[in-house]
Amino acid sequence: MKVAIYPGSFDPITLGHIDIINRASLIFDEIIVAILVNSSKTPCFTLDEKIELIRLAIGDNKKIKIKSFDGLLADFAKNENVNIIIKGLRAVSDFEYEFQMALANKKINPLIETLFLNSSDKYLYLSSSLVKDIAKYNGDITSFVHKKTKDKIQGKLGRKDFE
Ligand code: COA
Repeated sequence: MKVAIYPGSFDPITLGHIDIINRASLIFDEIIVAILVNSSKTPCFTLDEKIELIRLAIGDNKKIKIKSFDGLLADFAKNENVNIIIKGLRAVSDFEYEFQMALANKKINPLIETLFLNSSDKYLYLSSSLVKDIAKYNGDITSFVHKKTKDKIQGKLGRKDFE
């Protein structure tokens, strides 16, 4: 069975992430969406909230599993017995950082291969911070997140004094 890991902070999951997950699931038999628990960034959403949002967004696609990890991605991959990491590339500016991470992961675990999927053009500009910023000021995030997650994200972040 061909399995790949799609890692990230998912704070929160956006349509850009979902696009990568769905396309990767056409290539692999199973995709493990791996949520980093202890990011250097302070997350807005708890791990349980992130899992719930991802679950709502991916629906009942049996090929997609959701897991979390703490520590090195290369170690998580080894524990899962998976050698393929999927990353999305949105713009050339992502490349240098992603290339560095791919090389570092390979140095830690030489069996690891990082595969890059280009972001679909309509999501090139998208990021979780952008969604959070817009939601905070009660802006419309319909075009950025899955419709089943919109109200939960808005409910958590929207400023009540802006209503
Ligand atoms: N669509 C929309 N947004 C996307 C996206 C896509 N396809 N791909 C990435 N993004 C955005 C995210 O929303 C996030 O936005 P934000 O900065 O506004 O929050 C941003 O890109 C960065 O993504 P994120 O998932 O936060 O982190 P990352 O790509 O930098 O890496 C890990 C996450 C988990 C892979 C990485 O931190 C990691 O491996 N950590 C474990 C420790 C480790 O092993 N370190 C590496 C040794 S090399």
